[in-house]
Amino acid sequence: MTWFAGLESIVKLEEPLAPRTWFHIGGAAQFFVEPQSPEQLTEVVRRCRQEQVSLRVLGDGANLLVDDAGVKGVVVHLSGEVFQRALFADGLLEVGAGRDMPRLVLHCVHEGWAGLECLTGIPGTVGGCVRMNAGGRFGDVGSVVESVEVMDNDGAIFTRTRDDLVFGYRSTNITSKLILGATFRVNEDDPHRILRQVKEIWIYKKNSQPLGHPNAGCIFKNPRGLSAGALIDQAGMKGHRIGGAYVAQKHANFILADPGTRASDVLKLINCIREAVYNKFEMYLELELEVW
Ligand code: EPU
Repeated sequence: MTWFAGLESIVKLEEPLAPRTWFHIGGAAQFFVEPQSPEQLTEVVRRCRQEQVSLRVLGDGANLLVDDAGVKGVVVHLSGEVFQRALFADGLLEVGAGRDMPRLVLHCVHEGWAGLECLTGIPGTVGGCVRMNAGGRFGDVGSVVESVEVMDNDGAIFTRTRDDLVFGYRSTNITSKLILGATFRVNEDDPHRILRQVKEIWIYKKNSQPLGHPNAGCIFKNPRGLSAGALIDQAGMKGHRIGGAYVAQKHANFILADPGTRASDVLKLINCIREAVYNKFEMYLELELEVW
């Protein structure tokens, strides 16, 4: 008997992950699981633990490079309706972890809820954005989060509130793999004013980032007080190519990938970039990109 007996309706075998990542690269997930309720997710988590099957969570694949050989074990995708919810009451917006962040920002503009506009142009799901405290020069997720709903390794659900959460640069103190949802502080405002700010941020990004190509956002974290993009640029790496992967001309902290590029090409290019920056500045760039 397999570990997922009775859960067949939510499990796909050898599901290709490339179309589910922004890079469009990589192999398949051995077990691709789409729970439709927290209870089903609890069951999956418990069984994985019992049977010692590894478990990963896929968000929007916006900051992810999947190995050419794919991944063993379970990849959970929170596509079920309950994980897409967005409910507003008393200045708080309660959102499911599977909800798409860029669309959520636009939804807030439409409804006249201010607070999330600093996240304009940040790709990913709510869960993924909370997990890595996604953000940029205009603000980050941590600055608007009121609470986060998580599931522990036993499948138990609990809520962590602002006073116990710590958000750092692209990091949080949430250790649980599974984020089920988050509550954001928002306030009612004039939709036109919110839209103006969203547009300004969008124009900044469009002018400085290669948004028209498949990519995974910034590859490296910014070293304290510095810009990884500027360091890579000054190390002369713009345009440097390995196989189908190359450093973007518009912003050197972006790697672009031609169709058919292999994950191994991207990884080799990452090493080349690190070496070039280390040789010039004696600085080791830390990955922001998640690699499976
Ligand atoms: N710069 C260069 N050459 C380049 C790229 C940048 O000289 O090739 C210079 C720019 O001219 C600017 C400075 O470096 O003076 C900073 O560049 P930018 O304003 O583009 O910001 P960044 O620090 O490179 C951060 C986030 C981005 C976010 C932007 C805007 C990180 C690693 N990156 O980029 O986030 O979109 O601010 O808010 O924190 C991401 O995390 O995936 C991401 C794209």
